[in-house]
Amino acid sequence: MGTEAKDNRDIAAAAGTRRWSDGEHPGVILADIASRPSLAGHVITFANEKGGVGKSTLAFHCAIALAHAGHRVVALDLDWRQSTLDRGLSFREGTVRILGTGLPMPAHAVLTRPCTAQLYQELARLDARADYIVLDAPGADCPIFRRAVAMADTLVTPVNASFIDLQALGQVDPVSGRAQGPSCFADTVAGLRRERERRGRGPIDWVVAKNRVRNTERRHIGRIDAALATLSQHHDFRVGEGLAERVAFRELFQFGLTHLDLELLPEIARAHPGTLAELEKLLGSLALDPPRPARRIAPAAPRARSSPRTRAAYREALVAVL
Ligand SMILES: Nc1ncnc2c1ncn2[C@@H]1O[C@H](COP(=O)(O)OP(=O)(O)O)[C@@H](O)[C@H]1O
Ligand SMILES: [Mg+2]
Repeated sequence: MGTEAKDNRDIAAAAGTRRWSDGEHPGVILADIASRPSLAGHVITFANEKGGVGKSTLAFHCAIALAHAGHRVVALDLDWRQSTLDRGLSFREGTVRILGTGLPMPAHAVLTRPCTAQLYQELARLDARADYIVLDAPGADCPIFRRAVAMADTLVTPVNASFIDLQALGQVDPVSGRAQGPSCFADTVAGLRRERERRGRGPIDWVVAKNRVRNTERRHIGRIDAALATLSQHHDFRVGEGLAERVAFRELFQFGLTHLDLELLPEIARAHPGTLAELEKLLGSLALDPPRPARRIAPAAPRARSSPRTRAAYREALVAVL
């Protein structure tokens, strides 16, 4: 057997077998989840033990893209200290109210008490029949983080194109290019996957997506891609389509909007085609089920609940951003 194949076997066998000294063993987590009502929708969890990698940005764009595609979407923010996803969607509600424009709207909330009971209560309250449930996990390991990973049908882990960020998945030897062992996060995912399999629950499709990629760093990106390819074999994840570093992914946040929405707001500005194409590719690489419905229903335009002056000032501020 070649050394690399042996490495693969050793690392795969070791993954997920560490001692869970805090009592939060995968068996305990899966038993907790199994005792709750089963969910009708497909769960997409955005998680990485590292902060600032783009979990909320990707969760926000994916939730809105799925709502645009005509799906019923619930977006639950599990990172209450930041509340980025929930805030962005609240800003979106404000924009709908002020402009009186119908926009596809995920049902959303932030989990103020990080416990499983509240998580399931919120999902039932928001929409028990949602097609997709988008969970934005906090950027550090904790009980609710592990449950969000354990619940995932699709687990999306954004990483910036940096070897510091790759440490969150595992180590790669800089000389031989071989994997050296799992990170704490990869080990958590492996343990939870193993327990899901033992209980006959479906697999977790783990997708790692590069984020904030700069075209000027081609040589560095090549090394990152090679390391990700190695790690993907050891830790059984797919490398999904990522997003470039673009102001288009952050400039509309205060308005709760994405460039996808500009197609419904032609009087404000035109959507940036490169941004739309990247979002389309990202969604495509997640290979989600259910697929897009055949017929999209345009949301009804609500009556604007603002004075013409407020509306004009808001519109002007929005146009000035773009
Ligand atoms: N593709 C991107 N292009 C430009 N800025 C981005 C992109 N992805 C994320 N950002 C910015 O990076 C920062 C961290 O993103 P965020 O989604 O809050 O990360 P996390 O939720 O992982 O902490 C924010 O300032 C966000 O606007
Ligand atoms: Mg976040």
